[in-house]
Amino acid sequence: MSSNRVYLFDTTLRDGEQSPGVSLNVEEKLEIAQQLARLGVDIIEAGFPIASPGDFAAVQTIARKVKGPVIAGLCRAVRGDIDRTWEAVREAENPRIHTFLATSDIHLRYKLQKSRPEVLEQAVEAVKYARKYCSDVEFSAEDASRSDIDFLAQVVEKVIDAGAKVVNLPDTVGYAVPEEFGQFIRTLFEKVPNIDKAIISVHCHDDLGLAVANSLAGILAGARQVECAVNGIGERAGNAALEEIIMALYTRQAFFNKQINVNYGELFRTSRLVSTLTGMQVQPNKAIVGKNAFAHESGIHQDGVLKERTTYEIMSPELIGASRSTLVLGKHSGRHAFRKHMQELGYDLSDEELDRAFKAFKEIADKKKEVTNEDLEALVNDKVRAIPERFKLVYLHISSGTSIVPTATVKLAIDNMEFEAAATGDGPVDAACHAVDKITDIYGKMHDYKLNAVSSGKDALGEVISHIEIDGKIYGGRGLSTDIIEASVKSYINAINKYYYEKHQQTGQA
Ligand code: KIV
Ligand code: ZN
Repeated sequence: MSSNRVYLFDTTLRDGEQSPGVSLNVEEKLEIAQQLARLGVDIIEAGFPIASPGDFAAVQTIARKVKGPVIAGLCRAVRGDIDRTWEAVREAENPRIHTFLATSDIHLRYKLQKSRPEVLEQAVEAVKYARKYCSDVEFSAEDASRSDIDFLAQVVEKVIDAGAKVVNLPDTVGYAVPEEFGQFIRTLFEKVPNIDKAIISVHCHDDLGLAVANSLAGILAGARQVECAVNGIGERAGNAALEEIIMALYTRQAFFNKQINVNYGELFRTSRLVSTLTGMQVQPNKAIVGKNAFAHESGIHQDGVLKERTTYEIMSPELIGASRSTLVLGKHSGRHAFRKHMQELGYDLSDEELDRAFKAFKEIADKKKEVTNEDLEALVNDKVRAIPERFKLVYLHISSGTSIVPTATVKLAIDNMEFEAAATGDGPVDAACHAVDKITDIYGKMHDYKLNAVSSGKDALGEVISHIEIDGKIYGGRGLSTDIIEASVKSYINAINKYYYEKHQQTGQA
């Protein structure tokens, strides 16, 4: 393989899922992993199997079902963790065990309470142990950028001797600055005699807003794997944004002279899917995938772009699949046209999925003149990829105004039976959620609530993303409707369905 090749390691499902408030279920993780495979990342870090039974199940499911990329599972450098990770990834086409141990004095003294020789021995022992299971072992020196460089060089050399195929050097706390980080990687290339026997990787956090810049500096210094997450989600301020790294390497190819292997046209959809399923919205001015990333507001800019696009555009939205908001289908469109259009959008739906999507499309087309590609994507996420609906909204009536107590009457279907309840609340959404609580006997607490217009126009589909706490855990809910109160209630019910589904899966009871 050419030494210019840079491998994209996506950690959306592991570090990304460690973002506060994000909790994805197995189906959602699988959906994201399948999209990452379509995008063409080289490695998917599917989770941290020892962390919970849900994490284990997600990693194992992805390992079984997602073909193409290497599937990695993270573990601490201890035998029990490594065993569990191997159990989760072993059925993958190309499994990887990713084990980590901190190397900075701060972590050694306060967190691990271990000496440098003890840490060195543990790292080597963990890599050797993992290698008994798997030929592809990655070792991460947590907090590498704040570690003593000579000690770190010793750890890197010994873990390579022990069989690590990839050695990752994270800027765990996002403390580095690009020039310094590039120099840090170069110094390690000088100090570690066997460094050419492994792939050196970087993993940068965004605490100072420098994660992408530091990652690129690391690549220029010789790193051949870069760890990143879609939309830059992750611990605290997040990880380096996958789409930014990809487009920097593409747009400035002449400068970086590095080769990556991805389907650029899948970038926008990947970003949308992750923001929808995690509930973490992308800021409008976010590079590459933000709503305004290709919008020209000033008259001078608009004039320039009309005369010659490259006056103010360094990338084209078409390349990343972002320019698809044109009118596509209406209420007279038939099933055949619908199927064909969905195929063009990249959705390979089974007959049964197509039926559900087509039914939902017709319902929306009845209420809304123009159904756009964004509407269709939202609809597929809502209807086709949804978890089973134990509780289903049948009917919603709201009485609200400036001088009356908001009251809601809600009817839900549960196993072919219908139940109705009425309640009051601080506002119409609150009243409706109370009525839902009365029927389900599940009491959720709304943590946050975001309303989004999926497409433009007065009749735009409203998408509500909420985070609901039930039994001490946060569940993301999503609801779609041209009526925003209905979208809100659907989002609340969606979170309750996820809670119910998870509980049911764990206990095996209906
Ligand atoms: O930031 C970090 O150091 C990590 C490692 C576990 C790779 O996420
Ligand atoms: Zn990290």
